[in-house]
Amino acid sequence: METTTAVNPFLEGNFAPVREEMTSDPLKVIGELPTDLSGMFVRNGPNPQWTPIGQYHWFDGDGMLHGVEIRHGKASYRNRYVRTRGFEIEQKAGKAVWSGILEPPQPDSDGYKNAANTALVWHAGQLLATWEGGAPHAIEVSQLETKGEYTYNGKLASAFTAHPKVDPVTGEMMFFGYSFAPPFVKYSIVSPQGELLRTIPIELPMGVMMHDFAITANYTIFMDLPMTFNPARMQRGEPGLMFERDRPSRFGILPRHGDSDSIRWFESSSCYVFHTLNAYEEGDEVVLIACRMSSTNVFVTQPEQRDPDGDIPRLHSWRFNLSTGTVREEMLDDVPIEFPRVNENLLGRKTRYGYVGKMAPTPLPLFDGSIKYDLQAGYAQTYEYGKGRYGGEAVFVPRPDATVEDDGWLVTFVYDTDADTSELLVLNAQDLSSDPVARVLIPQRVPYGFHGTWVSQQQLDASV
Ligand SMILES: [Fe+2]
Repeated sequence: METTTAVNPFLEGNFAPVREEMTSDPLKVIGELPTDLSGMFVRNGPNPQWTPIGQYHWFDGDGMLHGVEIRHGKASYRNRYVRTRGFEIEQKAGKAVWSGILEPPQPDSDGYKNAANTALVWHAGQLLATWEGGAPHAIEVSQLETKGEYTYNGKLASAFTAHPKVDPVTGEMMFFGYSFAPPFVKYSIVSPQGELLRTIPIELPMGVMMHDFAITANYTIFMDLPMTFNPARMQRGEPGLMFERDRPSRFGILPRHGDSDSIRWFESSSCYVFHTLNAYEEGDEVVLIACRMSSTNVFVTQPEQRDPDGDIPRLHSWRFNLSTGTVREEMLDDVPIEFPRVNENLLGRKTRYGYVGKMAPTPLPLFDGSIKYDLQAGYAQTYEYGKGRYGGEAVFVPRPDATVEDDGWLVTFVYDTDADTSELLVLNAQDLSSDPVARVLIPQRVPYGFHGTWVSQQQLDASV
């Protein structure tokens, strides 16, 4: 295996890792942090500890958490690696031991290092850092120290999606794990108290990469999309995962507590979806809203194999009629967007508003603004970050005791290319045309990353 020599854009600019774990308090704030904005924004993302071996993919880097804690109008910052077993082994070795997903699996029981780099979820008093190929890691707030792998007292019987869904009404958490061996998917439910209650198989025709899913009040929706895994491709030295655009998409709808044989599959046009915005029930229909791409080049390593129409995600809805068995797919807007979020107090219920990152017209996945969709009025409002400024996923933070859906804030890290600095941007979610509520200046660059979460003051106070 050769050491990477060519410049990889995901190791350059603001994709490059930062080396220091900092703690900084208090931070300079431009504008004013509202006193009822109290809690901690934590964002996960890849930050390779060492020079990668083999081909580096953006999905490979060691997870690093960047946290901004806000209380009484003041803010503090800290960033910490997620100290996984692989991280500790590589730290002792003083170099990378594992290569990434574009290379064959390593001679290790896991095959690939659990990077714990993708997202965060708060459930049953515990913050978890997630990575879809393995177990989640328990994180102590607000210190952001890693407590270790979290296996539900040894009951975890699968990998663990980066995007579990917490029902805001019942407090249950649903998750799944996929693998490249039958039955390919296992689906689990965790009680509001954090006990893993049940795990059932979801059988698929073949192994696929399944990044996200969705819930409604009564159903769980799986996306069997044609990002297939084929070991023969790996033996030829190609990535094992490839998008096959001549295969259809399948959506499986299962009563939340149903058995494997109660899943109903709906077929739709070929596509890939990394992220769902939300899903809900309406009459006989289950409605899914998600960022649909007609194809993706995410694992394509040969330039001549790239689909020029790939990697353009746009907001779409699918209406699955449980009476007639039909599906109706509709594009809701033609603007390229990703990183969808809603007010999670309404997850699984019909939401009027959706918040997404607006993709910049650049070869790399950069976001030059935030869009708020009013799905009821068919209206969108955009906040542009400004020239040379790029943000990430903007997380909706509900105002405590809010009575309307969009009463709250959007928070995201924004990087200024010219100044080489980062800030936490706080926007008024009710009016994206207004000036930012506050800009919290971060004492170091925050590399572009993946998903964040807001841990409320109430959750911080109740953390275990
Ligand atoms: Fe994701």
